[in-house]
Amino acid sequence: MTPPIHIDYLPLGKPLFAVILVFVIIVAKFAYTSVTCPTRHLPGPWYTRFTHLRLKHAVITGQRIFYIDSLHRQYGPIVRLSPTEVGVADLSAFKEIHKIGTKYMKSDWYLRLANFPKPGVFTMLDPREHGPRRKLLSRSFSRTYLVENWDLVVREKALLAVTKIKADAATGTADVYNWWMLLASDISAHLAFGESFGMLEMGHANQFIRVLKKLTMGAGIMVEMPFLRLLRFIPITAVQEMFNANDFILKGAGRAVEMARSRTGEANIFAKVIEDCEKEGDGHIDDMDVRIEAMNVIIAGTDTTGVTLTYLTWAVLQRPDLQTALETETAGLKAGFTENELINLPLLNAVIEETLRLYGAAPSSLPRVVPKGGTNFGGHYIPQGVTVDTQAYTFHRDPNIWNDPLIFNPYRWITSENSLAEALSPAAKTAFHPFGAGARSCIGIHLARMELRYAVAFFFRECQGITLAGSTTPQSMEFENFFLIAPKAHRCEITFH
Ligand code: HEM
Repeated sequence: MTPPIHIDYLPLGKPLFAVILVFVIIVAKFAYTSVTCPTRHLPGPWYTRFTHLRLKHAVITGQRIFYIDSLHRQYGPIVRLSPTEVGVADLSAFKEIHKIGTKYMKSDWYLRLANFPKPGVFTMLDPREHGPRRKLLSRSFSRTYLVENWDLVVREKALLAVTKIKADAATGTADVYNWWMLLASDISAHLAFGESFGMLEMGHANQFIRVLKKLTMGAGIMVEMPFLRLLRFIPITAVQEMFNANDFILKGAGRAVEMARSRTGEANIFAKVIEDCEKEGDGHIDDMDVRIEAMNVIIAGTDTTGVTLTYLTWAVLQRPDLQTALETETAGLKAGFTENELINLPLLNAVIEETLRLYGAAPSSLPRVVPKGGTNFGGHYIPQGVTVDTQAYTFHRDPNIWNDPLIFNPYRWITSENSLAEALSPAAKTAFHPFGAGARSCIGIHLARMELRYAVAFFFRECQGITLAGSTTPQSMEFENFFLIAPKAHRCEITFH
């Protein structure tokens, strides 16, 4: 009798079984997520019921604002982005989320973003912690205080940046992206440390700023892909600077504490904060807090202002009539002009507002958490604990709010009385939020506007007839979006030739 044929499944069998098991577990997890997902009843692509991977992909490829905007256009003002995240482009919902005294707290994304031992004003979640800190810092960022104490520093640095741009452009091309970034980081560092880093003079960032930027970039990567924390252990300088340079940075930031406490020479903004603290027994700030807030000022105040200025330059130089009008307006200023005169120039300020509308550097989602009891937006119930994302990119381009929203038209901001805010409809006034909104809006708004005004005024006075270089194209200036936006090419070249 022929013996039965024996097939040995074993060598292939075990791995195959393991693969099938993993597959079954993944399918079961997706199925479970899809039926328990708190956002399952909301409009949105079917796959967002199962996974956040499509959103993550958009985030890490620098496409987040475009992806979310396209979902709003397809599914409406309330759209599911992932099982636990919802995009919101409804104006009354926006008001509710960002009003003063809101119960919608910043999500813990901010905490995970911070790479420092304690949270600072940007990353504190609890309003009981954030409120007193914000109050303490606010005095040093008020317009009155800045105009009285820091006007000269901002003015001199803006003029120096423009002088450098003019010199480069006269002999070839000037990269305004580089110069405006140096201007913004030199100003922030000077305010935070009380002494100039001299980066505009050198033409490049110093080691401290270079490492700080890498560290911020590393933190941004790790918040999306936490497993990359392991890279900290790789002993290569470039990798260490990105993932493991906290000690170096915090040690360097000790200079901000020294300068603030010594009160000798040129003080920094923290000297006033500490003084107010001691004088009025109001709030508390220790040395580590000062270090962290000094970092915040530099991180939050550099790329934001630098990128906005870059897009402003690009937007105006594409429109010769507008350029000539701005050159004429700024040429009319008397030699020793100050911030108080700049604030009254209609076209200069309108160009800044229109740039902030279309090219403000922070148009991304500002994630907040739905409070206890859930909420109802536009007829859709959203349960507590879900993250709601509002993005200026979408609000600033909404055709129901703005006429010809995609057209760069500064004149939309000017009425016959030259009053900027009055030119807007009530809906546009609410929707316009390049500096965020409510209690968590930008603390540096007056500083940023002061920098923008001086830089724009000097630039169009000193660089009449300057043009975009051939290397600067709509493609090179396309946005890349990693929380902030930046031109894809990371440069914007202009020339007199
Ligand atoms: C054009 C320039 C700027 C833009 C577009 C901008 C934009 C913003 C936005 C949108 C927020 C809200 C973030 C959120 O809710 O998650 C914010 C917050 C903040 N910004 Fe700015 N910013 C600019 C310049 C500056 C400058 C120069 C500083 C320097 C001090 C600064 C410091 C901060 C801080 C500390 C916060 C956190 C405030 C808080 O949570 O209480 N920003 N900024």
